[in-house]
Amino acid sequence: METTKTLQAEHNAVLHVLDQLEHAAEAAAGGQPVPANVFADIEEFFRVFVDRCHHGKEELVLFPKLMQTGLPAALEMQHEEGRQLAKAYALAAERYVAGSRASAVALQRAAADYEALLRSHIDMENAGLLPAIERDLSAQDQELADAFEQIETERIGAGTHERLHHMIETLAGRISPFLSASGPVRVDVSEPGPQASLLPHGSKKEQS
Ligand SMILES: [Fe+2]
Ligand SMILES: [Fe+2]
Repeated sequence: METTKTLQAEHNAVLHVLDQLEHAAEAAAGGQPVPANVFADIEEFFRVFVDRCHHGKEELVLFPKLMQTGLPAALEMQHEEGRQLAKAYALAAERYVAGSRASAVALQRAAADYEALLRSHIDMENAGLLPAIERDLSAQDQELADAFEQIETERIGAGTHERLHHMIETLAGRISPFLSASGPVRVDVSEPGPQASLLPHGSKKEQS
């Protein structure tokens, strides 16, 4: 199903950004002057892509159709909890000053809280929500894909979509110099990344 493929690709994009954030925050807390705009760009990704767009698709399009499974209540509660933790991360990112260890340690803590929630949320959706969609909504695949497309256009817009796409693709490269300086290189930027498959709707737009 296109619907579950889209969600899976978006989950992979989120996990990729969380991995990068974990490395960047660790390096910063270890004294590396990771630029503040790395954390600010990740904050925009969480706010615009994860919450407004991805959670929007789930809450507006999918959850109302899957109430009988009992899944939406718990997942929506996690979205709400995530919003609070994302706000705490946003505040820490705003207060972060490159080279200031205290601000970096606070940032790392806020990032770890949000990461932990989001990772277990994605695990739960991959294991429960996606199979439920395949089982109960396969006949509505096209309708769901159209509704997703509409949310993406309304909530992100083409310009922001391009910027976020570029941010995801270049993030590892912006962070890796600080990792190699602080110890073992944790990210292989030459490895084929999630790249264009991360945001499937955008890549479709680029081709047209
Ligand atoms: Fe979700
Ligand atoms: Fe999700």
